[in-house]
Amino acid sequence: MNAKPASVAARRVFVTGAAGYIGSHTVLALARAGLDVVGFDNYSNCSRLVPQRLAESSPRPISWVEGDVRDRDAVRQALASHRPDCVIHFAGMKSVEESCRHPSVYYDVNVHGTLRLLEAMRMEGVTRLVFSSSATVYDANYPSPMHEGAPIRCLSPYGRSKYMAEQVIADVANADGEMRFAVLRYFNPVGADRSGRIGESPRGQPANLMPAICRAALGRGAPLIVFGSDYPTRDGSGVRDYVHVDDLARAHLRAIDRLETGCQSFIVNVGSGRGYSVLEVLHAFAAITGVEVPFKMVDRRPGDAAEVYADTRLAVELLDSHAEHDLQRMCEDAWRWQQSNRDGYE
Ligand code: WQD
Repeated sequence: MNAKPASVAARRVFVTGAAGYIGSHTVLALARAGLDVVGFDNYSNCSRLVPQRLAESSPRPISWVEGDVRDRDAVRQALASHRPDCVIHFAGMKSVEESCRHPSVYYDVNVHGTLRLLEAMRMEGVTRLVFSSSATVYDANYPSPMHEGAPIRCLSPYGRSKYMAEQVIADVANADGEMRFAVLRYFNPVGADRSGRIGESPRGQPANLMPAICRAALGRGAPLIVFGSDYPTRDGSGVRDYVHVDDLARAHLRAIDRLETGCQSFIVNVGSGRGYSVLEVLHAFAAITGVEVPFKMVDRRPGDAAEVYADTRLAVELLDSHAEHDLQRMCEDAWRWQQSNRDGYE
């Protein structure tokens, strides 16, 4: 789906982590909106097939630079040669579970990498930054809808690393005076581009719900494991705010536009503003795809909260960001990607 032509003043955007799930969808939305895009990725956590898949769907060429965001000189050289107006920073590690086993990697990539990027930007005079953050920074037990002033309570090295990166960005920008930034705190991104050519491709057993449902729907034998049936929710299963990755991508376009047209720095939630339970998603998926997904109810997953969904008032006010795609579209698009890429990109 083409993002609405944005009136963005930025003409060229440098995107770190551009070959990742959200990065690749945002790159496509930027290109469809007529912007020049430079993708920067080290492919440590995504497929080298993504640039080619994007080239098939993009209306304009996308430039690519292979590199690690922690390598300040490599980033600086890429910024110097491409002269972007703005940077979107996706590059990072994002598994809650993995971060508990390898915390130092998460602080090195997510915090140290962000600092190196900021230094390269300052050296090359790039003063606009959109940062990919997460609703995981909030105290998940705080009553939803979750607004941007909700208490911060990071329960994993992943969550702490994202919040630390937010603070590094704010401190550097405040000291710099010229830099302006937008922090986007994502709720639960799901779905894929209509083309079915790019999508979420977790390695190993998917941790997140929608890829886990799609994997179970392939009928390879393993049922979906539903974590928790005794939450104080409509049906006892966990409630989350699922937002189509295309709606998320469009919010980045709006954030760039706001920064380019003089808006001060801001932090904003990006979600749909409504919650669905695990069982509601599962039943919607089956109704829409015609595929009955085998599932097994087990105990709660440690660290999970009952209900988390976004207060989207600030996103509407600042970004005019409304989730356009409903749960049906999220399930359709996720399943189309999974059916045509049964083993993801690999
Ligand atoms: C959603 C619901 C599970 C898998 C995480 C990260 C967050 C962000 C999004 C990066 C919960 C249930 C899940 C499964 C299940 N990622 N579930 N069976 O935990 O809300 O957020 O992903 O920023 O940082 O914390 O998303 O998709 O893992 O879980 O029952 O196989 O689905 O218990 O209720 P979550 P999720």
